[in-house]
Amino acid sequence: MCGIVGYVGHRPALDVVLGGLRRMEYRGYDSAGIAVLDGGELTVERKAGRLANLEAQLDKVGRETMSGTAGMGHTRWATHGAPIDRNSHPHRDTTQRVAVVHNGIIENFAGLRAELEADGVEMASDTDSETAAHLVARAYTDGDTKGDLAASVAAVCRRLEGAFTLVVTHADEPDTIVAARRSSPLVVGVGEGEHFVASDVAAFIEHTREAVELGQDQLVVITREGYEVTDFHGDAAQAKPFTVDWDLSAAEKGGHEYFMLKEIEEQPEALANTLRGHFESGRIILDEQRISDQDLRDVDKVFVVACGSAYHSGLVAKYAIEHWTRLPVEVELASEFRYRDPVLDRDTLVVAVSQSGETADTLEAVRHAREQKARVLAVCNTNGAQIPRESDAVLYTHAGPEIGVASTKAFLAQIAANYLVGLALAQARGTKYPDEVAREFAELEAMPAAVRKVLSTVEQTRDLGRRIADSRAVLFLGRHVGFPVALEGALKLKELAYMHAEGFAAGELKHGPIALIEEGLPVVVVMPSPKGRAVLHSKLVSNISEIQARGARTIVIAEEGDETVRPFADELIEVPAVPTLLQPLVSTVPLQVLAAEIARARGYDVDKPRNLAKSVTVE
Ligand code: G6P
Repeated sequence: MCGIVGYVGHRPALDVVLGGLRRMEYRGYDSAGIAVLDGGELTVERKAGRLANLEAQLDKVGRETMSGTAGMGHTRWATHGAPIDRNSHPHRDTTQRVAVVHNGIIENFAGLRAELEADGVEMASDTDSETAAHLVARAYTDGDTKGDLAASVAAVCRRLEGAFTLVVTHADEPDTIVAARRSSPLVVGVGEGEHFVASDVAAFIEHTREAVELGQDQLVVITREGYEVTDFHGDAAQAKPFTVDWDLSAAEKGGHEYFMLKEIEEQPEALANTLRGHFESGRIILDEQRISDQDLRDVDKVFVVACGSAYHSGLVAKYAIEHWTRLPVEVELASEFRYRDPVLDRDTLVVAVSQSGETADTLEAVRHAREQKARVLAVCNTNGAQIPRESDAVLYTHAGPEIGVASTKAFLAQIAANYLVGLALAQARGTKYPDEVAREFAELEAMPAAVRKVLSTVEQTRDLGRRIADSRAVLFLGRHVGFPVALEGALKLKELAYMHAEGFAAGELKHGPIALIEEGLPVVVVMPSPKGRAVLHSKLVSNISEIQARGARTIVIAEEGDETVRPFADELIEVPAVPTLLQPLVSTVPLQVLAAEIARARGYDVDKPRNLAKSVTVE
C-alpha cells in the first residue's frame, strides 16, 4: 500500500520515476507525486487522484521544469489525511530542501508532530509522513548528524514507531537518495551507472533485473556509482542480492485492455510454474524449508491464516489437507487471528498465505504464531517479502507479477501451493503412500491444460456478464469445495463491479438467505461433479430447483456433460471434468471472467477498483 520509487543515474529522472510509478499504481491511487533534484534545486509536483492527474499537471507546468537525473515518486493509498493535493507526497520541510516519500504508518506521529509544532514548525499537511521530512531537516542541521543525510535519516528512523519505507532527498546532496525500511518493502535495483529503490522490482524491471532485498531496519544510500547498506546505527549490514526471474513483458498489459484480463489468461502458466520442481525423486519438495521432517511429523493441527482471496484459497485447501493428512485444519482471517487467543504450540503448523508477502494483518498473525512457538510456513508470490522472511519455511507461488488489484492468477497458484503443503504433510506423516502422493501430484499437473480449456470457452460467460450487468445483486452458492469458490466469486463481483454479492453454502440457504430470492435475481451455482460426489450433486440440484421455483435466474457452473442439471439452469456454463478437490481451479475461472465483464459493462476500471489497494500494509 503506497508505491515508492527513487532513482539516481544518467537518464532523466522524471521519465524513470513516472515509468516506475505507472507500475506501482496497484499499491494505491489516491494521489501521485514526484520530486526531481537538479544540481542544488529540488522541484516537487504532486496531485490528488490517479497518476494521470499528475501527468496532466506536469504537462501544464512544463516537464522541462523537472530536468535532473535524480528523483523520486510516490503513489498513495490514504491513511492519515484525506486524498487531497496537500496530503500528497513528497512532503517537504519548511525550508523546502528536504523531500520525503513514505509507505506505511508512523504510529508515534502524534507525539512527533506535537514536538515539532512546539518548536514552531507549521505543518502543511494532515499526514504522519510529513513529520519525517521536518525531523530529517532538523537532524541535518544539528548535532553529530549535521551535513550527513544518511546519518540524519538513520537517526530519525530510530525514533519512528510503526511500519515504514522512507525515501529521502536533500537539495544539498543532489546525487544521493537515501531509503530505509521497517516492516514495509524496499528493494534496490542495480544498473550500470544508475541505481534505483522501489517498493517492488516492477518499478525498475525495464532497466535492470539485478536487485537487492533490504532486511528489517536497514538503510540504503544510492548514488550513480553504487549503493551502501547499513543498519539504523550506521554500521555496515548485509543485504541479499537476487536476479528477477521475469522481465518487463510480465509487468506490461501486452495488448490487453486491463492487467486483470491478461492475468486471468496467464493462469495455466501460473499453475504450471507453481508446481514445477516440487516433485522430485518421488517426493514433494518445499522451497526454503527450515522445519525438519520430524517437526512436520509432529504437527497435530494446522491453521491457515490469510486475507481476502488468499483466505479463500485456505478455505479450499482445508478440504484437501484434512482429507490427505487427517489433521484438523482451521482457516482464519488473519485480522482476527491474534486477537482471539488461538490455541497454538510447537506442534501447530501455521500456513500464512499472501500474494504480496507484506499484508500487515497476515504478518502480525505470523509474528503472533511464532511468539507462541508454532511453526510458520509462508505461501507467497513475492520473493524475499517480509512474511516469508519471518517464517520457518516458504513455498513460493510462481504466478509472476500480479498487477490487477483483484487477485486472479495468484489465487489459483495459492490453491496449488496449499495443496503441495498438504501433500508434503501427508508424505512426512505417512498418511499417504508415495504412489498416492505421486498420483495427486500428477492430477495437479494436469490442471494447467484444464484451465486452458475453460479459457477457450469464456466468450459465452462474457456475453452473460453484459446481460446481467444491471442487476442489483448476485448470489453465489456452492457446497464442499464449491462453497469457498462461491465466496471468491462474490468477492470478485463486489471488488470489481461494486455490486452487492454474497456467497453462501447452498445447504445454509434454507436457514435464512433464501428470503433474498426474488423474481429475476441472478444466482450463480457452483456444481460438484455428478460422478465424484453424487450425494452432494443431488443435494445441490434440489437447492437449485428450490430457488428456481422462487423466481431466481439460475446460472450454473457444471461439469461438461452433466445433463441432470440442464433443466434447472437458465444459463449453463460448462467446465471440464476434474477430480473433486481440484474443481475450484476450473470453476473459479468463469466467475473471474463474469465479474470482470460486469465491471467493464458498468464502466469501471477493472484493474483499480475504488478504495482498494493490492498490498495492504496497515491493520
Ligand atoms: C487485498 C487485495 C486482495 C488480496 C488481499 C490479501 O485486500 O485487494 O486482492 O486478496 O489483500 O493480499 P495478499 O497479498 O496477502 O495475498
